Amino acid sequence: MSYTTEGQPQGIANILTNRIRESLISEIVAINQYNYHIHNSECASLVNLWIHIRDDEIRHFSMFSELLRKYDPMQQKMFEEIKGHVNIDFTNCFSLKSDNRINIPNSIRSDIKGELEAVILYEYVLSSNKYRDVYEVYNEIINDEKEHFEELSYAINKYDSTFGIKTHL
Ligand SMILES: [Fe+2]
Ligand SMILES: [Fe+2]
Repeated sequence: MSYTTEGQPQGIANILTNRIRESLISEIVAINQYNYHIHNSECASLVNLWIHIRDDEIRHFSMFSELLRKYDPMQQKMFEEIKGHVNIDFTNCFSLKSDNRINIPNSIRSDIKGELEAVILYEYVLSSNKYRDVYEVYNEIINDEKEHFEELSYAINKYDSTFGIKTHL
């Protein structure tokens, strides 16, 4: 229970694609932590170092995402499907809880983390399930969560490139 919200059951990543999802979660935790440090320090040289490392973590996230799509055909399908129906303009777009734009990327990444955790948990449930109706419900929801991952990933990529943050893509 190292990375989930407190009280939230955590699935066991017993297949490669879900180990990649756990790796994505690890990158998200790092990126959000560096962003927090970057935006809460006035030590310029340290901020520059954190920005450099944060950009590396963002690149790692992109590399793991590409690997995930390669080994999960449904994830790849969702990646292709969402192109065109997500359109986000970040101009004058501020966080809901404050007037500070810097909270937006961390919020989106936390959302992505939740979607990844959901897929890991639900696929773990299915790994020992033998009922057809259980499979059908979980499978439909899992596909939705994979779609949410792609929609949110699209949004964060757009945000990062809009603000000149280096990504792998
Ligand atoms: Fe990393
Ligand atoms: Fe979802």
